[in-house]
Amino acid sequence: MISSGRWLKWSMITLGIETSCDETGIGIIDRGRILANLTASQIVHTRYGGVVPELAARNHIKSIMPLIRVGLEVAGIKLAGIELVAATNGPGLIGALLVGLSFAKSLAIALKKPFVAVNHLEGHVYALRFDGRRPRYPYLVLLVSGGHTELVLIRKEFAYESLARTADDACGEAFDKVAKLIGLPYPGGPYIEKAARSGRVGAVKFPVPRPKRLGFSYSGLKTAVLYYLRDHPGGNPDDIAANFQEAALDHLTAVTRQALKQTGVRYLGIVGGVSANTRLHEKFRGLAREFAVTLLIPGLQYCTDNGAMIARAGVARYKKYGASDINVDAVARQSLEELET
Ligand code: KG4
Ligand code: ZN
Repeated sequence: MISSGRWLKWSMITLGIETSCDETGIGIIDRGRILANLTASQIVHTRYGGVVPELAARNHIKSIMPLIRVGLEVAGIKLAGIELVAATNGPGLIGALLVGLSFAKSLAIALKKPFVAVNHLEGHVYALRFDGRRPRYPYLVLLVSGGHTELVLIRKEFAYESLARTADDACGEAFDKVAKLIGLPYPGGPYIEKAARSGRVGAVKFPVPRPKRLGFSYSGLKTAVLYYLRDHPGGNPDDIAANFQEAALDHLTAVTRQALKQTGVRYLGIVGGVSANTRLHEKFRGLAREFAVTLLIPGLQYCTDNGAMIARAGVARYKKYGASDINVDAVARQSLEELET
């Protein structure tokens, strides 16, 4: 960090750029108010059943400027009206990150405005702060996406403690892999959710993972689906989807229940792509009633990767620490606990 923080004016129009994986996201916000939030999903990866890093980077290059132009129109502002530029610098695919990061830095220099680098996971956490929502410290967040499955205790702003991580696959990754096994497109999560609505819960039994310590594990469940398909080649995909989804989400619920018991927090958030799942919402509403905690879930378009969440986390960082070093690099891995506090 090279410049010191300062109190924000009542208005700070911020552009957030997200290119850590296969979604090009741009968001324009004015502190907690969203003026525009646009995402270009790269369908090219569907053909390969997963994200091809070089194609992701190339598609970010193509999409980024058109998205910003439309975003400015939606927001009703000119490029010169941007007062802060934020971009994800990790964790994620390096080639993909470099596109958004370099673009954001150059734009900030051209506009003579500050630039802030944002951790992607912190972006997901700040997706809880739209529409007047505001968790009180300390609170617990289940971060559940294609790359991460983690329970984080947030004691105060920027003070993160990881309580549970996955020992193997991320939950979203398991959804994607199981979708592929039963012939559904990538990314599998929304397709599994849809197929599960026609499936019969209980028709197939998959084991809910039960790790010994507070933590997650999805490889056993994925293998159980694989073995089931090997033994039942004509197995009903909807039933498989429904029962995989139940086991996968029951695992999230059980581990979160443990953490709620241990911490005694009053606020619980779920963020990341899998937090778009409405069956997960049902299970977590039950958990919230059981522990009398306030449950926070971002609006649907802020669950999966998006630019608005990066802008929102960028504003918070800027307020506390000022602009980032313009030489900041892209990083493939970076946990919340490593961030400056
Ligand atoms: O947060 P995100 O957009 O990207 C990462 O940071 O990984 O999360 C994407 C993941 C994918 O694995 C996708 O299958 C999953 O979130 N996902 C879902 C749903 N919508 C997206 N999983 C379950 N149910 C959904 N409705
Ligand atoms: Zn994400």
